[in-house]
Amino acid sequence: MTSIAVIGPGAVGGAVAAWLAQSPDHAVTVCVRTPFESLAVETPEGPITATPHVATSPEGLAPVDWVLVATKTYDTDATWAWLNVLVGPQTRVAILRNGVEHTAPFAGRIAAESLVPAVVDIPAERSAPGRVLQRRNGWIKVPAGEAGEAFATLFAHTPIALEVVADFTTEAWKKLALNCAGAVNALTLQPARIAHDEGAAEVMRALVRECVAVGRAEGADLPDDLADQVIEGYRGQAPDGVNSLHADRAAGRPMELDARNGVIVRKGAAHGIATPANTMIVALLNAAAS
Ligand SMILES: NC(=O)c1ccc[n+]([C@@H]2O[C@H](COP(=O)([O-])OP(=O)(O)OC[C@H]3O[C@@H](n4cnc5c(N)ncnc54)[C@H](OP(=O)(O)O)[C@@H]3O)[C@@H](O)[C@H]2O)c1
Repeated sequence: MTSIAVIGPGAVGGAVAAWLAQSPDHAVTVCVRTPFESLAVETPEGPITATPHVATSPEGLAPVDWVLVATKTYDTDATWAWLNVLVGPQTRVAILRNGVEHTAPFAGRIAAESLVPAVVDIPAERSAPGRVLQRRNGWIKVPAGEAGEAFATLFAHTPIALEVVADFTTEAWKKLALNCAGAVNALTLQPARIAHDEGAAEVMRALVRECVAVGRAEGADLPDDLADQVIEGYRGQAPDGVNSLHADRAAGRPMELDARNGVIVRKGAAHGIATPANTMIVALLNAAAS
């Protein structure tokens, strides 16, 4: 039996926890802030349900084989209370988040060889605690190596495509290129259809081009036409699709702005690369939220 704890069973964490619990070989615990009785996920394969152990406090928990961190990036500090009891010498910790700084907040306190960063493309929305709509089966990419391979094995019984990649840096920056453009939706509070507006699309391209320049300086292998690819991707989405930065701003929640755009500004500054478009959109979104 493999013991797995999912910290933050929201849209992504809830879908993943429900899928992992479909295996009789897995004992799944969900570590929640807002409690629920069970998980129910509408998936492209049909509805699935699960009744994992629901932990509302770290009290009584013990080290597990795997911890999956699926909170938003701005909720990292709150995960420590859980990690302090769930992580033992044999525990591996996967970080399922957007951005390119998956492991950085955990480095130093969790052994590097135990950390598995994961790029996640599972479009999912939460309608209520424990209730998730998973729009596509999606994929998760993790770095090659023993820990990455072991993580992929956890999903062998699911339709989620697990890819163990040799160049994780490139995959993370490719996803960031897509995500950084979504700040235009958050700023304008307009869904995916705004990418059909050529003026808005040009701002999105500017954000992505800066991401490409900084990503390349960080070692990512990014194509010259990535900005156009990102726009085509947005234009191919459901016109009323709302990205999570937009959804968070619209709901008055904190935003993953630093992880999605601020990081381009910070890392750009470190490399001496100007990032005026990302600097401007970070400033405007922060000002709008204050
Ligand atoms: N949703 C997507 O389609 C998608 C796709 C790809 C990547 N991502 C990335 O995946 C990550 C997770 O996003 P998400 O959309 O799943 O977010 P989410 O739906 O907001 O879920 C986050 C969960 O973390 C919980 N949480 C916060 N603090 C906690 C704590 N101290 N202890 C336990 N649980 C805590 C929240 O609890 P409450 O129930 O109290 O709010 C919520 O259930 C983000 O980095 C996001 O960018 C999302």
